[in-house]
Amino acid sequence: MFALSDDDCTGTILGCGDGPASFNAEATQRGHRVVSCDPLYRFDAQTIQSRVEATYVRIMDETQRNADDFVWNAIPSPEALGALRLQAMQEFLKDYESGKTHGRYVDAELPTLPFGPASFDLVVCSHLLFLYSTQLTHDFHLAALDELCRVAGEVRVFPLVALSGMPSPYIEPVRIHLAAQGLEVSIEKVAYEFRRGADQMMRIRHRSIRRAAPLGEGNIAARRMSYAPDRAHDASGVSGVMSSPRQRCGLDLGDHHRQSRHGLSCVWQRGIWKSRRDSEKNVVEA
Ligand SMILES: C[S@@+](CC[C@H](N)C(=O)[O-])C[C@H]1O[C@@H](n2cnc3c(N)ncnc32)[C@H](O)[C@@H]1O
Repeated sequence: MFALSDDDCTGTILGCGDGPASFNAEATQRGHRVVSCDPLYRFDAQTIQSRVEATYVRIMDETQRNADDFVWNAIPSPEALGALRLQAMQEFLKDYESGKTHGRYVDAELPTLPFGPASFDLVVCSHLLFLYSTQLTHDFHLAALDELCRVAGEVRVFPLVALSGMPSPYIEPVRIHLAAQGLEVSIEKVAYEFRRGADQMMRIRHRSIRRAAPLGEGNIAARRMSYAPDRAHDASGVSGVMSSPRQRCGLDLGDHHRQSRHGLSCVWQRGIWKSRRDSEKNVVEA
């Protein structure tokens, strides 16, 4: 869905609206650093399981009725799809309570997320924005994408079609809105196509790519996350109360100087990581 490269996976990733999927569990097992956020995570595992099971029959009926709308290659049949979904949910449930304890599953919802600026290298968001174009308004889409761009150096959203199967009416307004802020917006074809015609993602990048504050070499799962309030930042995005991303994530509280994975020496100054070489800028250049 997101054309993730090996390089993408070396950075910190936020999955927004990840739901009861196995992305976080599988990525963590492979040693990647992923945080998922979703309002669903205010519930415990048993409640989530019941809610998913309660909607399972209806969703399977709908998929069978609309089978022609899907490409049955990698997933050969609606039955295989049902089995895969339940398997993914089981993987998620096995990981959920411990992942929640370690701050990998965060109860949060757009358009306001409890993460500081540039907390992640990449945000991925699937089957939420653009798909629910009837349920979520134009203004919600703009605010949500502003928020995703605030917390990460790059944002990818998939797919760009609405539930009707038609392109979302918000693609162009969103593109204009983000481009007006100096963000680079591109629409790219991806290898994944399950819903027929849903094979494009939107990629949004800051022109000077902001690298997320490094989270240390260890697995993020091993550390407890405790986010500090960071809503009160001034126009420059800097807040007097803001801690460094590593403090917010409860990671390695001591050292505020480090070498980025691109070899730049970075220093935490007034709420943002800056390269020492270029510390007047509000970005760490990649
Ligand atoms: C259709 S599911 C997609 C799950 C997963 N991303 C996938 O592609 O399989 C949509 C998810 O978005 C979550 N969601 C709904 N409103 C949200 C919001 N305002 N902010 C973040 N997530 C939201 C729902 O709880 C649900 O888990």
